[in-house]
Amino acid sequence: MSYLFPNYQRKAIELLKGAGNTLTDKEGKNYLDFTSGIGVMNLGYNDPELNQALSDQANLIWHTPNLYENHLQEITAKKLANGKKYISYFCNSGAEANEAAIKLARKATGKSKIITFTNSFHGRTYGAMSATGQASIHTGFTPLVPDFIYVPFNQLTPLESAIDHQTAAVMLELIQGEGGVLPADLIWIQSVQALCQEYGALLIIDEIQTGIGRTGTFYAYEQYQIEPDIFTLAKGLGNGIPVGAMVGKTKLASFFGPGSHGSTFGGNKLAMSVASKVIDRINQPDFLEEVQAKGEALLIGLNEIAKNNLLIEAVRGKGLMLGLVFSDQEVLKQAMEQLEAEGLLTLKAGQTVLRLLPPLTITYEEINQALLIVEKVIDNLKAQKKDKN
Ligand SMILES: Cc1ncc(COP(=O)(O)O)c(C=O)c1O
Repeated sequence: MSYLFPNYQRKAIELLKGAGNTLTDKEGKNYLDFTSGIGVMNLGYNDPELNQALSDQANLIWHTPNLYENHLQEITAKKLANGKKYISYFCNSGAEANEAAIKLARKATGKSKIITFTNSFHGRTYGAMSATGQASIHTGFTPLVPDFIYVPFNQLTPLESAIDHQTAAVMLELIQGEGGVLPADLIWIQSVQALCQEYGALLIIDEIQTGIGRTGTFYAYEQYQIEPDIFTLAKGLGNGIPVGAMVGKTKLASFFGPGSHGSTFGGNKLAMSVASKVIDRINQPDFLEEVQAKGEALLIGLNEIAKNNLLIEAVRGKGLMLGLVFSDQEVLKQAMEQLEAEGLLTLKAGQTVLRLLPPLTITYEEINQALLIVEKVIDNLKAQKKDKN
C-alpha cells in the first residue's frame, strides 16, 4: 500500500542521481534528460557553483521571516528587473506567482474580469486553476473563482469581442507549454498588448515555463517586443530549489502595500542564494546565443526526422522548448515508452505532442545522441505500423 494520494501518474522508475544532463535510476540505468524536471533544471544536475551557493547559504542561515530586511531578495529582484522598471514579489511556486498576479491585477484596476485562453495552463490552486483554460482541470472543483473568461489562442476577433472596460487583465503564456508547445503569433501578441492599453486592462505574461532562458532570450516576451505589466516566473528560477516570482511594473507598487499579500517561505534565503546565481549564469549574451544555436540544431534535426513522415504532423516551439506533434495519441504513448527504454526521457504536452525541454546546458553531442534515439524509435514505430497494415 502507498501512503501517498494517487494524484500523479508515476512511471515505475526512480531517479536517484544526476550529473550534468544525465540521470541515473535506482537500477543504475542512465538517461539523457530531455525534461529538465519539467522545465526546471535549466543548468543541469549537480552544478558545482550552485551546490556551493546553496551550501554556503545553508551554513549561514536558512530562513528569516519577511518581517526583516532581506538583501538577497533585493539583489535577485534587481537582476530580474534587468535594467527596467520592474519590482518583484517572491513566493514558492508557479501557481503562487500567478495567484499574486491575479490578486494584484484585481486590486490595481478595481475590476474583476480576467481573460485567459483555451488550452492554457496556469497552475492548480483556485485562482490559477480558474485562469487555466482546460475543462478537464476544472472537473470536480467547481464553483471556480468567478469572472474568468476563456477565448481561443492566437485569434483576435474573439478577444476583441470579450475585452471591455470591465476587464482587469489579459493573461497568457507566449508558448502554451502544457497545452501543446504552441507559440503565440508575434503580430497577435502586439495586438493583444494594444487592446489591453485601449481598455485599461493589465497584460500578464506567464513566463513560468518560457522564462529564464528557455526560449533563447532571458524572457520570452523580449522576442515579442512587448512590455508586460506583470510577468510570473518559477520553474527554472531556482534550478530545483522551490521559488517563484511575480514581477510587476513599479507603478503597481502601492497596490501591494503592507498586509495585502504574503508568504512565510517566499523569498527564503536558500532559494534566493541559488536564484541569484542562476540568473547570473543564464542572463549572459553568450549563454543565450548558445541556447538559440542549440535550439536551432535540435529543430533542424527534428524537422529532418519529421520530413515525409506520416507519424509526425509538425515540429514547433522556440529555443530549447520544442514539440513534435504526433498524428495520434497512441503512437505518442508508444514513442515515449520506447524513448525511455532507449535511455531518453521526454515529456508529453496536450494529447499528441512530444515535448522536449533539455537543460540549457545540453551539448551538441547530446543533442545528436537524442536525435539518433528519436529517429530510431520513430523508424521502429513506422515499421510496426507497416507490419500491422
Ligand atoms: C505556464 C505555467 N504556469 C504555471 C505553472 C504552475 O507552476 P507550479 O507547478 O510551480 O505551481 C506551470 C507548471 O507547469 C506552467 O507551465
